Amino acid sequence: MGSLPPARAQDALTLQRYNSAMKSIVIVISGRGSNMRAIVESGLPVEAVISNVADAAGLGFARDNGIATEVVEHRAFPSRESFDAELAGAIDRHAPGIVALAGFMRILTGGFVHRYEGRMINIHPSLLPSYPGLHTHRRALEEGVKVHGCTVHFVTPRLDHGPIIAQAAVPVLPGDTEDALAARVLRQEHRIYPLALRWFAEDRLIVENGIVRVKGQDASQALLSEL
Ligand code: GRF
Repeated sequence: MGSLPPARAQDALTLQRYNSAMKSIVIVISGRGSNMRAIVESGLPVEAVISNVADAAGLGFARDNGIATEVVEHRAFPSRESFDAELAGAIDRHAPGIVALAGFMRILTGGFVHRYEGRMINIHPSLLPSYPGLHTHRRALEEGVKVHGCTVHFVTPRLDHGPIIAQAAVPVLPGDTEDALAARVLRQEHRIYPLALRWFAEDRLIVENGIVRVKGQDASQALLSEL
């Protein structure tokens, strides 16, 4: 008795060791930043938040939480290549293990994607491969699909395409508006994005022939759903 440190100090020590073994994350946003917020609040090691829009709402939350922020405004650059080079410089200053795109609304050049190949992850508001691109909720309603959702995937040069890490499904209900459906999907985004990033940060993802396998007990949570 008396030789053990108090329980709280012990917990803090364990947590510190656990976190320092994880890959760190830089999050890239363009606007609201609710996914960024969910990632930060999940306790993952977020080094910095970078936005291509100076007044992106999400930057305020990051600053208020003591996270480094940077703005690289795409409008200030004459070409995609020059913007991507500056963005890469900003990301690399934080030497992250993971680049997480969270509502980042720019198309990236092949060179940029290759630079972060295998460690850049995106969330998309549809059950890929259905509805890549914009206006996913509107398109789902127009098609009359009964199930919709969201996808966390590795980024490849093809837009909204790449090995799928996690997906969550939600029902499309009679009388749904675009906003109601978007809100239902967003609640799932906030659950699966931190979950998928944690798996990757803990080195628990195996990618073989474009298929992602999750090592460990909670892998079935990749099927999270609100059905
Ligand atoms: C999310 O629906 C995300 O899936 C999509 O853009 C939206 C961004 O929302 N790529 P937020 O900025 O994370 O609130």
